[in-house]
Amino acid sequence: MTQKFTGRIAPASGKLGILCVGLGAVTTTFMAGVENVRRGRARPFGSLTQLATIRLGKRTEGRSPLVREFVPLADLSNLVFGAWDPIPDSAYHAALKAGVLDKHEHIEPIADFLKGIVPLAAVFDQHYVKRLQGTNVKPGKNKRELAEALRKDIREFKAKHGCDRLVVVWCASTEIFIQPGPTHESLTAFEKAMDTNDPSIAPSMLYAWAALMEDVPFANGAPNLSCDAPALEQLARQRRVAIGGKDFKTGQTMVKTVLSPMFKARMLGVSGWYSTNILGNRDGEVLDDPESFKTKEESKLGVLEYILQPQLYPELYGQLYHKVRINYYPPRGDNKEGWDNIDIFGWLGYPMQIKVDFLCRDSILAAPLVLDLALFFDLAQRAGLHGIQEWLSFYFKSPQTAPGLYPEHDLFIQQTKLKNTLRWLMGEEQITHLGTEYYEYGGEQ
Ligand SMILES: NC(=O)c1ccc[n+]([C@@H]2O[C@H](COP(=O)([O-])OP(=O)(O)OC[C@H]3O[C@@H](n4cnc5c(N)ncnc54)[C@H](O)[C@@H]3O)[C@@H](O)[C@H]2O)c1
Repeated sequence: MTQKFTGRIAPASGKLGILCVGLGAVTTTFMAGVENVRRGRARPFGSLTQLATIRLGKRTEGRSPLVREFVPLADLSNLVFGAWDPIPDSAYHAALKAGVLDKHEHIEPIADFLKGIVPLAAVFDQHYVKRLQGTNVKPGKNKRELAEALRKDIREFKAKHGCDRLVVVWCASTEIFIQPGPTHESLTAFEKAMDTNDPSIAPSMLYAWAALMEDVPFANGAPNLSCDAPALEQLARQRRVAIGGKDFKTGQTMVKTVLSPMFKARMLGVSGWYSTNILGNRDGEVLDDPESFKTKEESKLGVLEYILQPQLYPELYGQLYHKVRINYYPPRGDNKEGWDNIDIFGWLGYPMQIKVDFLCRDSILAAPLVLDLALFFDLAQRAGLHGIQEWLSFYFKSPQTAPGLYPEHDLFIQQTKLKNTLRWLMGEEQITHLGTEYYEYGGEQ
């Protein structure tokens, strides 16, 4: 039996400040998108919090309210935005440079709003993102001092904009791969490493630490380790703050986590999965550096292993060859093309192939995820759900989980988990899809 939620959800009144780390393609597409929606100029397609309904009770009851009418979420009119970036461009100039949104349709009409969002100086070190150079960077004698400066930014932003609550979302570049080590094991070791400028402490971890110290939830949209380490999990629990990540699940991996459960459900074997991408935005340029790519690669590779469970089905998935490539190709800009070639086999071992060619737009897919994550992390915090928010794994390529648990990657298991969490929070029955009550053999319910 599931335990009842006995807490209380504080109302979503007042302003919610969304502080994004990074003011690049994803962040500007998100912020400009929300503003266009607020002004009635566009629709928030892709956002579960804005558009999805949730079924309550039995199928015969016909109760399917909008998610945002079922759970208390911050209203779009109450959102305030801020960001940090080592590149000093305002959201207006950053959006134009990113080239995602149409200048005349979605940027110029809200130019005043976008020009008002100017990035705070970043905690940035080129060692962790080789292909970037920044001028809007905080000085500091060590990592502790830099992290303290971030805390001050958070406090000042809150006061300046009269926010009731804040959420921080990492939408900045992918950092180099960092193996979790002794400095990430405990909070004491982590904080000592900040004092001694240990290279294992990346800027993304300092942002996470600063947010947690200010009791602000932190969601990580990139594959960097960031808050996915015992030290910061400990801090989140101690301070009773919500955390989660990693890496927005948008294009190719979203498709992968839909197709691979289908193969497994039908007991079809997979002998090979070759995924390649061409991408021409700044993210693509950063990922062209092998050290940043390694971080992304780890995040993209894991999903098949977990979904297909080769240890349980060695003859179906034990020999699977999985390869992921990202190629930086400037002419495409943000309009990524992701190809998948999947070699499968069925009855008696006969081979078949599936080809997917996804002509997507990276930031168009990611922007609604930033919105949903900000609203749901704020809900989690108001409901007192602290620590790792695994119910939001729906949004992530490498979901953070409690120690000892493997992550659920199947998109529809993740969706069920998310919706059941909302039902649980609001005291509604879980939906198990058993459905015996609709048939005579179900007996009395
Ligand atoms: N778009 C997607 O579909 C998608 C999916 C999953 C993950 N992501 C991740 O989201 C992130 C953002 O993607 P994007 O397309 O907006 O990239 P982008 O390059 O356009 O923007 C990233 C911004 O972060 C800034 N930045 C780098 N280090 C920083 C630091 N230490 N502090 C503050 N700002 C910093 C950069 O200057 C840049 O402006 C990337 O890490 C990307 O891998 C994107």
